[in-house]
Amino acid sequence: MDFKWDESHSVGNEVLDDQHRRLFDVLDMMNNDKGIYNRSYNAVYITYLEQFAKSHFRTERILMVDNCYEGIEQHVESHRQLLRKLSKIKAEIDDKDIEQRKKLIDFVLDWKVNHILTEDMKLKHLFGPKVIS
Ligand SMILES: [Fe+2]
Ligand SMILES: [Fe+2]
Repeated sequence: MDFKWDESHSVGNEVLDDQHRRLFDVLDMMNNDKGIYNRSYNAVYITYLEQFAKSHFRTERILMVDNCYEGIEQHVESHRQLLRKLSKIKAEIDDKDIEQRKKLIDFVLDWKVNHILTEDMKLKHLFGPKVIS
């Protein structure tokens, strides 16, 4: 399966697109990583995802505030839910159990489909050319 970012995933903002592209690359990497040489497979990706999420969500929040986005409360709440889900997974899965990586991959896939391609996509109109009336 190919998880690479393409133009159809664009939310119309270069910084966010670049960050989303990095997340999709990590998803692709996780999917292809057989974990043979890395005994703490899950811990490495969880740590990366936690740091990525915090900084990415901060970027989105700033852009939403700057652009007076009306749905900011709901959007920020769904970021909190994603962080809660990730810490639940962190508590549940074993560092070294390669079989459990599916849980983590499913989490990122769910983030991609149910957040980036739906919630983040709603931000697109903020970044388009401004209509002056
Ligand atoms: Fe995002
Ligand atoms: Fe978001």
